Amino acid sequence: MPLRLGLIGLGNIGRHHATYLLEGRVPRCELTAVCATTESKLVPYREQGLAGYTDAEALIRSGTVNAVLIATPHYQHTALGIAALEAGLHVMVEKPISAHKADAERLLACAARHPKQILAGMFQQRVEPRYAKIRDLLERGELGRLQRVTWINTDWFRTETYYASGGWRATWKGEGGGVLLNQCLHNLDVLTWLLGMPARVRGFCRMGQWHAIEVEDQVTAYLEYADGASGVFLSSTGEAPGTNRLEIAGSRGRLVLENQRLVLTRNATDALEWSRTATVGFSKPETTDEQIPFDNAAAPHAALMENFTAAVLDGAPLIAPGSDGLRSVELANAIVHSSLLEATVDLPLDGAAWERQLGDLIAASRHRKEVRAVTPDDFAASFRR
Ligand SMILES: NC(=O)c1ccc[n+]([C@@H]2O[C@H](COP(=O)([O-])OP(=O)(O)OC[C@H]3O[C@@H](n4cnc5c(N)ncnc54)[C@H](O)[C@@H]3O)[C@@H](O)[C@H]2O)c1
Repeated sequence: MPLRLGLIGLGNIGRHHATYLLEGRVPRCELTAVCATTESKLVPYREQGLAGYTDAEALIRSGTVNAVLIATPHYQHTALGIAALEAGLHVMVEKPISAHKADAERLLACAARHPKQILAGMFQQRVEPRYAKIRDLLERGELGRLQRVTWINTDWFRTETYYASGGWRATWKGEGGGVLLNQCLHNLDVLTWLLGMPARVRGFCRMGQWHAIEVEDQVTAYLEYADGASGVFLSSTGEAPGTNRLEIAGSRGRLVLENQRLVLTRNATDALEWSRTATVGFSKPETTDEQIPFDNAAAPHAALMENFTAAVLDGAPLIAPGSDGLRSVELANAIVHSSLLEATVDLPLDGAAWERQLGDLIAASRHRKEVRAVTPDDFAASFRR
């Protein structure tokens, strides 16, 4: 019997999910119900025989679905996820799994009380072959001891019109953060998936540096790992053309991913070993370059939904378990928290402390934003990355 899925939220990404699901791109996953807060958005789906709801809780309790895909703004992920789990449903939740760490822990605690149900996160970058290849190389120890990671992640350019496209966008109250929590949360997920969590972070965030928004749109973060490796993560929604360059350096070589090219430069001898044993002061190990070819995932969101379906129906392991979603939200929160405190923050982050600070930011907000419509086509290009 196929999985009967309900989709909550028919905004930009919700409609994208609906399209490939209704095209039958995910075998054994049948979209049977949708929920939007406005009736008019339900019409085209009702015309195709789907049940339509304006109240998510009604969809959850309807008995028409055994799983939901939550594609609403961030703050509702926790409440809807908990409601769905408590109703006995499996849950795929859009990124971030919650708007902040303490909320994510509430969702995960609920999932732990329902161990037979699946909770997964929509972290579709994990199915991109380039990251899978890097992960494989790291797991095989090809880079030796990790020394440095640098990710310049500034190709998330957004216009004022983008920020005006939803009242919740780029506000502490509606979104809980800016570029870290929204645009490059996927990169933070990949970073932590590849290298684990740093032990401490120092963030330098500029709020509304390039846009009329109250949250961060420019970020420089210093990351320090427990074994002494260091990292720098940069992001911006105000820089064009922007750069997306990931470098991971280890004692046995360096990986560089940029412009659809992944290059592994291997040291003939482990650099730390060379340093200890070389008899001259300015010599370096010989190197060889290897370009590692990769394709782009054809339909990454559909691939994750296929995995979710297999997890529910066959017990297949999840590519992106919901519990993994804690790391990216925690790192995003910690970088902003550190910036506002003007201090280094040790991880694990004190989620309650950040929740209090976020509450203060929401209370102090004087931000009033203009909301304008943008075309769906305009959005479509934004997540094809
Ligand atoms: N994985 C990805 O590639 C990707 C891409 C874009 C957005 N997202 C995530 O998806 C979520 C939604 O983003 P978006 O760009 O589609 O936002 P959006 O504003 O375009 O759409 C959100 C929709 O949810 C609806 N909604 C709000 N509360 C609801 C409720 N209780 N029940 C039903 N519908 C409700 C809104 O009316 C709106 O139509 C965010 O968490 C975002 O971070 C993920």
